[in-house]
Amino acid sequence: MDFFDDLTAAIARNGTRHSVRCSDKVWQQFLSASAPAPARTPAAAAAHNEQAPPDRNISQAAMESFPAVSAFAGNPAGDVPVPSPAPAVPAALPADWTALRQMVLNCQSCPLAAHRTNAVFGEGAENARLMFIGEGPGADEDATGRPFVGAAGQLLDKMISAMHLNRSEVYIANVVKCRPPGNRMPGEEEAACCIGYLHRQIELIKPEVIVLLGGTALHFLLKVDGITRHRGRWLDFNNIAVMATFHPAYLLRNPSAKREAWHDLKLVMAKLGISI
Ligand code: URA
Repeated sequence: MDFFDDLTAAIARNGTRHSVRCSDKVWQQFLSASAPAPARTPAAAAAHNEQAPPDRNISQAAMESFPAVSAFAGNPAGDVPVPSPAPAVPAALPADWTALRQMVLNCQSCPLAAHRTNAVFGEGAENARLMFIGEGPGADEDATGRPFVGAAGQLLDKMISAMHLNRSEVYIANVVKCRPPGNRMPGEEEAACCIGYLHRQIELIKPEVIVLLGGTALHFLLKVDGITRHRGRWLDFNNIAVMATFHPAYLLRNPSAKREAWHDLKLVMAKLGISI
């Protein structure tokens, strides 16, 4: 059982979602120690505020561990708006899903194309109220052409389900559509080549809320750095409410941060009118 599995189960045990608050009693059911998975190199983690791991094929053992939680940790910075860059989607990008998908699947705009098995366009409801944005495909995503299907994806599924949603009613995409070799972070130029696709996806979906998974997504969508500083409070992208939170891969390596991630997701639920 994972934290978010356990959370969902505890909410169910405590009656309807409407009757449950994240009381200490409920929280206590999630608290126990776990061994963190190995970290990305310190330099790379520092550069992107400890986002994704060097290898997204994280062990099942790490997935199944409980978090170690000490105290409630909201973001003391509060709801300080961060200006959005208001990017222009290049006119050459198609404004319909079929053509846009085809363009991504055939894209040769940057060197990442040469390394991919499949471009990963994104998936979910094209009219989703909630959109999740990650960093880029890992090995499993590259192999299948689907976003977030590896270990981090399984945790994301649990996070979505703890929010009383399922994968088919949200939209899941990445900053870059092709896997960076060795799961390294996408470079500035690679992301610059690809970001228009994401902007167009956002424009087509018009979600009410975007959740940025990790500092790389935060960096490339909002041009701000510091997931620890910016998570847990409302940001803005072209008048869409944005919540940044920890990347699921980071949560697998640092289970104690799941509590903060859950805090962030509860803000998103409240914004969408979903009872906890
Ligand atoms: N990590 C990401 O950022 N995106 C994926 O699709 C999978 C893992």
